[in-house]
Amino acid sequence: MFDAFRTPDNVLVVGGSSDIGLEIAKALAKRGSSNFLLAGRNIDQMASCANDISSSSKSRCQVAVVHYDASHENSHGHLLAAAKDELKTLDYAIFAVGLLGDQLNDEKDPAKTKEILDINFTTQAMAILEVANYMKEQGFGHIVVISSVAGVRVRRSNFIYGAAKAGLDGFSMALGDALAGSGVGVTVVRPGFVKTKMTAHLSAAPLSTNAEAVAKATLKATDAEKSSVYVPFAIGIVAGIYRHLPRKIARRVPF
Ligand SMILES: NC(=O)c1ccc[n+]([C@@H]2O[C@H](COP(=O)([O-])OP(=O)(O)OC[C@H]3O[C@@H](n4cnc5c(N)ncnc54)[C@H](OP(=O)(O)O)[C@@H]3O)[C@@H](O)[C@H]2O)c1
Repeated sequence: MFDAFRTPDNVLVVGGSSDIGLEIAKALAKRGSSNFLLAGRNIDQMASCANDISSSSKSRCQVAVVHYDASHENSHGHLLAAAKDELKTLDYAIFAVGLLGDQLNDEKDPAKTKEILDINFTTQAMAILEVANYMKEQGFGHIVVISSVAGVRVRRSNFIYGAAKAGLDGFSMALGDALAGSGVGVTVVRPGFVKTKMTAHLSAAPLSTNAEAVAKATLKATDAEKSSVYVPFAIGIVAGIYRHLPRKIARRVPF
């Protein structure tokens, strides 16, 4: 359930070791969310995230972890079963799984291409739908999907990841439309370059931001029940212009 300030009691973080997911969870713990379930592959890392979330909480909060590998068969079904077991109600779910890949190598390797598409799109879409259907039955809930500006206009430099994010973004926005009036909301978050372990090997791009800023913008957007948000705000303006550039010009833009 949500309190009068739209703070959820029970929170699911899919991609439980994600830096961005962790910061959103910490911000929710600080506001008073009391139960968390972190779903991911890396149990040690999630145990450390669980400590960070507990330490952020003003009162006592419970943080459980469950193994979730998006590449496993029926991972979406196991995820929902674990969430039903661990959380009394499923109030707020954050989807922060992501796999950046290495475009120039991956585009020569069909298996790797499939993995990037599957992890960033297909498996996430299935898990989101599973959670959305459950929340709809429940009559309330909010879903946060971490998309990316990479999906607003897919670029040559990362078109496998970008195309998967474009798919996830469109899927999630339309799911939000489908859920209108059901009590369940969807917020699609589109960060630019965020300094996290996913990008640790890359030099920071212009308008880069950090996971704390993404968390702050996410909570502001979900409080206002917005369907989407760019982080930082300015990257939305850049993406909006870039999206409409004629292809011949867009091809010459060096990113
Ligand atoms: N950092 C950026 O610049 C940026 C920009 C825009 C959007 N995003 C998106 O933000 C989200 C969070 O990314 P982040 O920056 O916080 O990076 P991160 O810390 O590397 O988080 C990515 C998460 O995805 C999980 N993951 C990858 N493959 C998985 C699989 N097969 N099964 C289950 N979990 C899997 C990782 O788990 P493991 O720890 O087990 O690998 C990790 O928890 C992602 O969706 C990413 O695409 C990031």
